[in-house]
Amino acid sequence: MSESPIVRFEGVTKSYRTGKVETPVLRGVDLAIAPGELCAIVGTSGSGKSTLLNLIGGLDRAYSGTVSVAGQDLGALSDAELSHLRNEKVGFVFQQFNLLEHLSCLENVAMPAIFARRTLPDSHERAQRALDRVGIGERSRDLPQNLSGGQKQRVAIARALFNRPPLLLCDEPTGNLDSKTGQQIIELFAELNRQDGITLIIVTHESRVSSAAHRVIRLEDGRIVDGRGAVGVEGAPPDEAAAEVSPTTAAEGST
Ligand SMILES: Nc1ncnc2c1ncn2[C@@H]1O[C@H](COP(=O)(O)OP(=O)(O)OP(=O)(O)O)[C@@H](O)[C@H]1O
Ligand SMILES: [Mg+2]
Repeated sequence: MSESPIVRFEGVTKSYRTGKVETPVLRGVDLAIAPGELCAIVGTSGSGKSTLLNLIGGLDRAYSGTVSVAGQDLGALSDAELSHLRNEKVGFVFQQFNLLEHLSCLENVAMPAIFARRTLPDSHERAQRALDRVGIGERSRDLPQNLSGGQKQRVAIARALFNRPPLLLCDEPTGNLDSKTGQQIIELFAELNRQDGITLIIVTHESRVSSAAHRVIRLEDGRIVDGRGAVGVEGAPPDEAAAEVSPTTAAEGST
């Protein structure tokens, strides 16, 4: 079983320009993430973690080198093709939840349907299933303001899952949560990875997230300095940690 990487970076460099000053952020990143991996991306503040995630998510096209997602070179896609790929393949989860406060949880989760032009009854069913999946199906009619931080993040995760993407990109998803709630969210991510086979890339400052990960990718001075199998790997399988958990969980997740 040699699957090709779901994410591949080859010689990626990225700088930001403010006025006449050019600040290099990524200085030649090579990376391959196999389908089914749960990766943590760590590094000091300003080391480029969010920048890296935004490149994977096709949110930023100003870079050099090659970024491929699901076998497609993002640089070769038109804007329309890129947003189609993003809709189909990628879900985003952020520290700030980014929910629309005047919409119900169900409507928030169904937001991606507006972009995909799905019919409303179908999209509401789908949204309800996504809310059920993350354990807050009974709060679908509530406004986000009536929910706790952990519940809001679950709504945001349900929204990210709405289009059933194979890849979730999470930028400090537990950064606004207390440690117990953060732990529950990490457990949910681990479950989505094991049971639903979703590939997760989680930017984090927290060691708990990294310890749940199959692989920790460390950014320093614009390069990856650590991350077993990070460089030039052809369809790297998750490491032993993953192999340890998968046999049991494959059975659990068979519903
Ligand atoms: N839009 C921008 N314009 C100019 N510089 C930027 C921009 N976005 C980020 N940077 C700079 O790029 C570098 C990397 O930023 P990035 O947000 O990727 O870091 P990070 O590792 O996610 O940090 P944090 O842990 O604080 O979220 C920083 O020096 C930052 O100031
Ligand atoms: Mg960041």
